[in-house]
Amino acid sequence: MSRNRLAIVILAAGKGTRMKSALPKVMHEIAGKPMLRHVIDTCGRLDPDRMVVVAGPDMPGVEKAAAPHALAHQMEQRGTGHAVGCAQDALGGRRFDAVLVVYGDTPLITAETLSRMVAERQRTDAAVVVLGMRVAPPNAYGRLVLDAGGDLDAIVEAAEASPEILALDLCNSGVMVIDGAVLFDLVGRVEDGNSKGEFYLTDIVGIARGDGRRARVVEAPVDELVGVNSRADLAAAEAILQQRLRAAAMADGATLVDPASVFLAADTVFGRDVVIGPHVVFGPGVTVGDRVQIKSFSHIEGARIGAGAVIGPFARLRPGTELAEDVHIGNFVELKNAQLGRGAKANHLTYLGDATVGSGTNIGAGTITVNYDGFGKYRTEIGARAFIGSHSSLVAPITIGDGAMTAAGSVVTQNVEADAIAIGRARQIDKPGRAAAFRAAQSVKHKK
Ligand code: UD1
Ligand code: MG
Repeated sequence: MSRNRLAIVILAAGKGTRMKSALPKVMHEIAGKPMLRHVIDTCGRLDPDRMVVVAGPDMPGVEKAAAPHALAHQMEQRGTGHAVGCAQDALGGRRFDAVLVVYGDTPLITAETLSRMVAERQRTDAAVVVLGMRVAPPNAYGRLVLDAGGDLDAIVEAAEASPEILALDLCNSGVMVIDGAVLFDLVGRVEDGNSKGEFYLTDIVGIARGDGRRARVVEAPVDELVGVNSRADLAAAEAILQQRLRAAAMADGATLVDPASVFLAADTVFGRDVVIGPHVVFGPGVTVGDRVQIKSFSHIEGARIGAGAVIGPFARLRPGTELAEDVHIGNFVELKNAQLGRGAKANHLTYLGDATVGSGTNIGAGTITVNYDGFGKYRTEIGARAFIGSHSSLVAPITIGDGAMTAAGSVVTQNVEADAIAIGRARQIDKPGRAAAFRAAQSVKHKK
């Protein structure tokens, strides 16, 4: 049998009743990414040989979020020990030096902490290494009971604990690394004769000790081990993660003028010397080039922003936005699936959807791409160095050539060739003296 270093089992079968949601708990997002994906991505940094997600029945989206990793099903929630047992087949009968068990609802754990646990198991050849955290009682966590030598003696669930044990502040985070050679033997010997009638994974510590094996504790800050059981916990986890992301962005050379009011996604990428004003929100899938300025109250998702671009204030960049270097996007401009060439400008009150804009083109205030007729979406292609007059409606599908202009207020329904001017509006008619005559007639009528 080939030997593999590390397998990871992610427990995610719990119902998450307290979320009061149609969505499985682990699919709720923090920093724009499902909790389960945070855990999978963090675990991936340990480069395991195999990863298995244990999910409950009827958990839409979990299979896709787990991919390409294996999914095992636990049809009935009979406890954490039972859940780990459900992963056995998905581990494919292979032998692993170690199996790491993490929870899908504990999204802030770091790869560094997990690696420390794996190293501790290797160093001590312990049957089990448990991740502990210091939480002042009273709390509902399992307590870690140490022996005189500092090894872990047992994990006692709060529901089963004596007052002396409940007074301990060293608590079980739930994360464990187990010797792969004995894991399923230990799990198979767990019994359900406890107050919840569940198979507690935590019981494997006592069983392993009975076999003469060691168990160890590695500690981590409680900030990493926040478990999400309610919407309030979700918000607390979001706040901690936002702080981390902001700190990392600044450490990498971005200026956040008011960090507390900038919201980042887990995958936001900033270049050097980016300046982000107060109250800017990044959804998933945003890459920001060097020297970009993003001014206050902008909302950005699924966008690539080229170096030197200036965005906002009050800009909305939606998925499919691609901006080359030095593009300017101003206030109340919305872009969706729009690609703008180098130095293009759309500075005021504009919607560009399903559009290509060439380099150096100026999009006047109030320009609208009319991209949708209630059925289909159509593209607007604007060439380089064009000038779109203010308040133009560009009715797609339409092509406007390089260097072309549209007159202000035009409704443009036909392609405009390069260097032409399109005027698509009614001709102006002047009536000399008519305003004065109107006022005179009205003031007699209204006796003013
Ligand atoms: C567990 C630990 C406890 C620890 C706490 C930390 C046990 C017996 N207790 O308690 O010592 O302090 O976590 O948060 O392990 N799950 C399944 N299938 C099940 C039961 C649970 O997949 O049948 C999953 C849940 O989705 C969750 C995780 O396992 O991700 C923990 O389950 P939960 O019911 O929250 O355990 P606790 O009672 O909090
Ligand atoms: Mg819990």
